[in-house]
Amino acid sequence: RGPLHFPPGFGWGAATSAYQIEGAAKEDGRGESVWDTFSHTPGRTRNGDTGDVAADHYHRYRDDLDLMADLGLRSYRFSISWPRIQADGAGKPNQRGLDFYRRLVDGLRERNIAPMATLFHWDLPQALQDAGGWESRDTAYRFAEYADAVFRALGDQVPVWLTINEPKTVVQNGYLWGHHAPGRQDPAAAYLVAHHLQLAHGLAVQALRATGGAGRIGPAFNLHPCYPADDSAEAAAATRLYDGYENRLYLDSVLKGSYPEDVLADLGPDSRMVSGIRDGDLDVIASPVDLLAVQYYTPYYVTASGDTTRRWPTSEADWQQIHPEGMYDILTRITRDYGRIPITVTENGLPCPDTLGADGTVDDSGRIDFLRDHFAAAHRAIADGVPLESYHVWSLLDNFEWAEGYDQRWGLIYVDYPTQRRVLKRSAHWYRTVIRDNGC
Ligand code: FCB
Repeated sequence: RGPLHFPPGFGWGAATSAYQIEGAAKEDGRGESVWDTFSHTPGRTRNGDTGDVAADHYHRYRDDLDLMADLGLRSYRFSISWPRIQADGAGKPNQRGLDFYRRLVDGLRERNIAPMATLFHWDLPQALQDAGGWESRDTAYRFAEYADAVFRALGDQVPVWLTINEPKTVVQNGYLWGHHAPGRQDPAAAYLVAHHLQLAHGLAVQALRATGGAGRIGPAFNLHPCYPADDSAEAAAATRLYDGYENRLYLDSVLKGSYPEDVLADLGPDSRMVSGIRDGDLDVIASPVDLLAVQYYTPYYVTASGDTTRRWPTSEADWQQIHPEGMYDILTRITRDYGRIPITVTENGLPCPDTLGADGTVDDSGRIDFLRDHFAAAHRAIADGVPLESYHVWSLLDNFEWAEGYDQRWGLIYVDYPTQRRVLKRSAHWYRTVIRDNGC
């Protein structure tokens, strides 16, 4: 394998999200989110971990900015906490919340790092959950108002906006399986939630255009290449429908203005989702976007009966099979099926059993191998015509991994939680050279 050179100006980055790193859960007027409620409910997270303190980034963001500059990041993807901006999810924005993100964005720009802001990374204000959450159509309109307030405050300083992080994870983990907030197991509700999340996305796109903001905007989807587990006709058919639920439900509605027929038929005309779609909704959802954010972690292998099976070694996250080829497959598939919309990879990464060695280093060579293989797959996709403009490693630093708490470490930077000391892992030093050389 020869050296990989990426296109000039390629946006090497790293990603985080508000609830996973900020802490300061009760400061400066922040309200409660569904993740405060969920993580404080006994039995919901590993070790009962919560995001109350997390990586204390709310207080240490200046040091974290310096670490980003030290790595040479060109792009930093973070999320804005809705309950910091509107404690109860409605009404006049909280200036102290906006000010925090203004300081963060200014700090990025001073260091020549492009800010990429996600509007919603799962921390729905609890007051909105109490009023029905994403099952309620009204939440989509509340989201558009929140987005509008953020665009007015920061729109001149943020070149790229992402609307909703992984709507599918809210649908599946939050409403089908119940191991994420709000912890429901209600398939009928789940797909209505999917529709309202898509609607919220479209309304936010329209809100940005209405403010005349110069920034670009798009959705952030976790996409899963789906392969048949064997070569039977039944497995092929099951894989097709599985792909509908995993990928086309989200991609088609935003990029083609329609939900996939096979998924709608499978849900049935009387389902809460299908009967919840109103005239004009798909036009809103398909409001033109500027780019598509893709998060890739794992493929699925679908059996004739519609279950999934494994083919590759898994990581410390039992849901993740390591298959770099899947990155190539999903990126090229988007360009093939949806045209040459610009793409940013907003998440890809690996949890490792990282420990701080006696010599003060963290040896995560497995993460380096993983990233190198995935960068190579992305590079091949670019060579084959995919307009990929940037790539954000998940994550900048170790953080609160939702139901897994702090046990799973995904960062390039190690966080020693008792002291909040940061230590660059081997992968961070390696990533610095990748960025410097624009390849590896
Ligand atoms: C994604 C989430 C992100 C992080 C990674 C490991 O699904 O968007 O917050 O938890 O998985």
